[in-house]
Amino acid sequence: SRGNYRHFMLKEIHEQSEVIAKTLEGRLGDGHVMTNIFGSGSDALMSDVRHIQIVACGTSYHAGMVARYWIEKMAGVPTQVEVASEYRYRDGVVPDNTLFVTLSQSGETADTLAALRHAQSHGGYLASLAICNVPGSSMVRESDLSLMTHAGPEIGVASTKAFTTQLVSLLMLTLALRYARSGDDALQARLVGALRQLPQLINQGLALDGDIERLSSAFAEKHHALFLGRGPMFPIALEGALKLKEISYIHAEAYPAGELKHGPLALVDSDMPVIAVAPNDELVEKLKSNLQEVRARGGELFVFAGENVSISEGDGVHVLRLPEVDEVIAPLLFTLPLQLLAYHVAVLKGTDVDQPRNLAKSVTVE
Ligand code: F6R
Repeated sequence: SRGNYRHFMLKEIHEQSEVIAKTLEGRLGDGHVMTNIFGSGSDALMSDVRHIQIVACGTSYHAGMVARYWIEKMAGVPTQVEVASEYRYRDGVVPDNTLFVTLSQSGETADTLAALRHAQSHGGYLASLAICNVPGSSMVRESDLSLMTHAGPEIGVASTKAFTTQLVSLLMLTLALRYARSGDDALQARLVGALRQLPQLINQGLALDGDIERLSSAFAEKHHALFLGRGPMFPIALEGALKLKEISYIHAEAYPAGELKHGPLALVDSDMPVIAVAPNDELVEKLKSNLQEVRARGGELFVFAGENVSISEGDGVHVLRLPEVDEVIAPLLFTLPLQLLAYHVAVLKGTDVDQPRNLAKSVTVE
């Protein structure tokens, strides 16, 4: 039931702290992630993996895009990510010892399932791993290994808690791959600590709900919006744009901020709100100069910024602060305000938030 919440989506947004805690439960060891959490034989397999191919659709695909930044940076394993509807019909090259990873809330998405079957019948393939929210689903049954996200039933068509529990699972995969390669180290200890703190941090992020609701009126009359991020925050910008499109029917696009001057800057004027995700990471200064370019063209800026990022409120610049956080964890935290923004804009517009037009929760046909 929805309990006291007006929509399932809002309830599911607010459940994220709890379901992230459940997804972590029993999977963190002392200073590292346990390497056997993907099923029997998975600890031995982790050290044999030479390449990773991630395949998914929609929101799950965005989680895979974040994972690519994490896995290549922290585990050093070359990683590719592709939408399932393209992967399944492409005769791509599968390098030797590839771990084939599917990401899916439902475990029944037709294209993702077909991509899994396609991979299983080709060379290069080492094993398949499903990161999935529905136990006993086709994806889990047909994969060699699995890691369940414990998000619980997700009723809202727009995916929220499934996405953040996928991210947590993918960070655990990253750390398991690293452990299999180099044993214990300070980075793993730091991130295991950060993961343990995460449920509490998520609740701090959700406390922004009221501020975001007040902000949402600035979007209700708009026809377009542009989301910007850099590095692992680019897929988070994509996810923010998808959420806004799906439930408020406002056309939204996301760009890696460095691409602005290669085209989309031409769209920016005072009717184009620009939303930026700006944690205190190594790219924040570059992002800030991209934002100045937007402001110079009259674009109204809505910046979700880390506590210590030096950017100030002013004419046409709105800044909402999020708690200071380990930069690896930032994609998880900064997803929350974008989910809440889409939700409140949709409510203002009076759309059917839990069942947006033309969409189905589980896409079991091509
Ligand atoms: C977006 C959304 C869809 C799904 C996509 C994949 O809010 O819900 O984009 O993410 O259809 O579904 P799963 O994860 O079940 O494979």
